[in-house]
Amino acid sequence: MARAFGKVILLGEHSVVYGHPAIAAALDRGVTASGTTSLADDAVDELLVAPWAVRTQPDAALDGAPSLGRAFAAVLASYASERPRVRVEAEVAIPGGSGLGCSAALGVAVVRAIDEALGETRSVDDDIARSLLWERVFHGQPSGVDNAMAAAGGLALFVKGAPLLPLLARRALHLVVGDSGEASTTKSMVDSVARQHAQVPEKTRQTFEAIAAIVRNGKLAIEGGDLRGLGQLMNMNQWLLAGLMLSTPKLEDMCGAARDAGALGAKLTGGGGGGCMIALCADAAAAERVSAAVGAVARDAFIVVAGASR
Ligand code: PMV
Repeated sequence: MARAFGKVILLGEHSVVYGHPAIAAALDRGVTASGTTSLADDAVDELLVAPWAVRTQPDAALDGAPSLGRAFAAVLASYASERPRVRVEAEVAIPGGSGLGCSAALGVAVVRAIDEALGETRSVDDDIARSLLWERVFHGQPSGVDNAMAAAGGLALFVKGAPLLPLLARRALHLVVGDSGEASTTKSMVDSVARQHAQVPEKTRQTFEAIAAIVRNGKLAIEGGDLRGLGQLMNMNQWLLAGLMLSTPKLEDMCGAARDAGALGAKLTGGGGGGCMIALCADAAAAERVSAAVGAVARDAFIVVAGASR
């Protein structure tokens, strides 16, 4: 069975697209997939995705999900053309379009399922490179943070084009993830930031520089176990993201509810414009309280523990 992780971005979404660093943590949930091959004359390459009941073929728009068919085709094109047909069944356990890296996790799981079915063994770096072909279909010019985290897991600092730098947290990070239930696409949010970058380049550049400084300090806070400092950096990152018009009233309500319930910091995570937020909590008991408070205004809230204690 092939597996890939969902992720949350702790600090640095969007500026990461422009070459600045971001820090992300893998979720313990994601996507599983398995593949089978057939040499029969009438066999076709096929992808089935549960629980959405999607069945698609490369390049096909059979099911109202043409992007999935195109992404499947993009990945398959990287394999030898003289190969058996592949049927992949995937099971998605994270919400789509919510900033948790669902499409990237699906891409990594599909790549790994194809490899397993064809008996090919590859490195994590190969999985990251191949799944980027998939991500490009959905996101245009993705930074690559989602598929790198989906393949590698853990807690890491990411810079576009560079290998992931795993981080060791001195204290475990108790995070509450709240899903606003507001649909949004990463591509539309990335496009919106690109328009601002074109229209007001100096202001946008300064915002990215400020976020990059927040990320650099966040790395030190994680490594030094300074959870209070990390929480403040998350709040600052949220204000800057809101200044790029990526937040929504609902996300602000959820972040406010988290802070009122004792969270050390809260921000949107991923593309924004809806989707999910995260809140950092001092310990497991605080995370329970914050999760209840966020859950009261969100569609869903759950707790994730990232990083290792030592
Ligand atoms: O919304 P998600 O889970 O796809 O996260 C996207 C992160 C961005 O920085 C907004 C885009 C990117 O390619 O890094």
